[in-house]
Amino acid sequence: MRITSILSAALVASPFAVSAAGTLGFAVGNTNPDNSCKSQQDYEKDLDALSGATKVVRTYTSDGCDTARNIVPAAKAKGFQVVLGVWPDTEESFAADKEALQAAVPGNEDTIYAITVGSESLYRGNFTGEQLLEKINEVQEMFPETMIGTADSWNKYADGTADPVIRGGVKLLLVNAFAYWQAQEISNATATYFDDIMQAFNHIQTISGSTETPELWNGETGWPTDGGSSYGAAIASTDNAITYWKSGVCGMLDWGVNVFYFEAFDEPNKPDSIGQDGSAANEKHWGAYTADMKPKWELSC
Ligand SMILES: *[C@@H]1O[C@H](CO)[C@@H](O)[C@H](O)[C@H]1NC(C)=O
Ligand SMILES: *[C@@H]1O[C@H](CO)[C@@H](O)[C@H](O)[C@H]1NC(C)=O
Repeated sequence: MRITSILSAALVASPFAVSAAGTLGFAVGNTNPDNSCKSQQDYEKDLDALSGATKVVRTYTSDGCDTARNIVPAAKAKGFQVVLGVWPDTEESFAADKEALQAAVPGNEDTIYAITVGSESLYRGNFTGEQLLEKINEVQEMFPETMIGTADSWNKYADGTADPVIRGGVKLLLVNAFAYWQAQEISNATATYFDDIMQAFNHIQTISGSTETPELWNGETGWPTDGGSSYGAAIASTDNAITYWKSGVCGMLDWGVNVFYFEAFDEPNKPDSIGQDGSAANEKHWGAYTADMKPKWELSC
């Protein structure tokens, strides 16, 4: 009931266009649990496992692990669409990803939903908005038929850092929002997630002056399950992930927003990392599915 009242309040206040239910996609990694690169056959198994829940997945690089070369034919064979990623952060990675795209995109435009140039590059301070726009435009000129955009953290849209990208007419923006990384208790996680997305979408649509373009998605959200690390008041547990899925993710889709869930499968081979508060962070247990591709809960809304 608490959720219903949050949603109703949000709907009344909704500053951005809402349509039919949003589309659900999943982020997929490019390595197997044994750390080997996924082959076309590995991606086909992934997509078979996901096919009851979605028909669109997003990836983060095109060259690394031959991701574009392997996932595009797998997606084509399985009736999926894929968002390919480009790392523009260094000249080397940008050049390598463009070359991989040049080999993978032509002739496969129907299978490639979009290409994102940069993943949280504004958040990390790698580029100014103007610099990122140049990189996006360069890729857009290479593939005029394909929707090219970027993915960044919600606050970098809300605070105006991405304004040059919006004003530049970029076609697709993915907005990442993790109540978990804002150290929210599960009881306040859905409210925080909705507030993040509302602030970002509202700012983007105010700058663009349109509710149609750019196309907007929540580019990443999720919650770690049992075995994962907690972050402040955000406690990793499968029960909490289920709560977040049902109220946050399903609520967002109901609200008409497209969502990429982070992530599809556990990645036990991921190295340990350090959270912003300096605590050890284990990112191996963010999957909605286990590493051996079993759903951790009923993935419907
Ligand atoms: C830009 O990104 C790369 C890799 O993503 C990182 O190693 C580097 O430190 C970043 N540069 C700045 C200025 O943040
Ligand atoms: C709960 O979420 C709302 C919306 O993001 C936020 O304003 C508030 O500060 C949060 N409460 C706590 C205790 O962090």
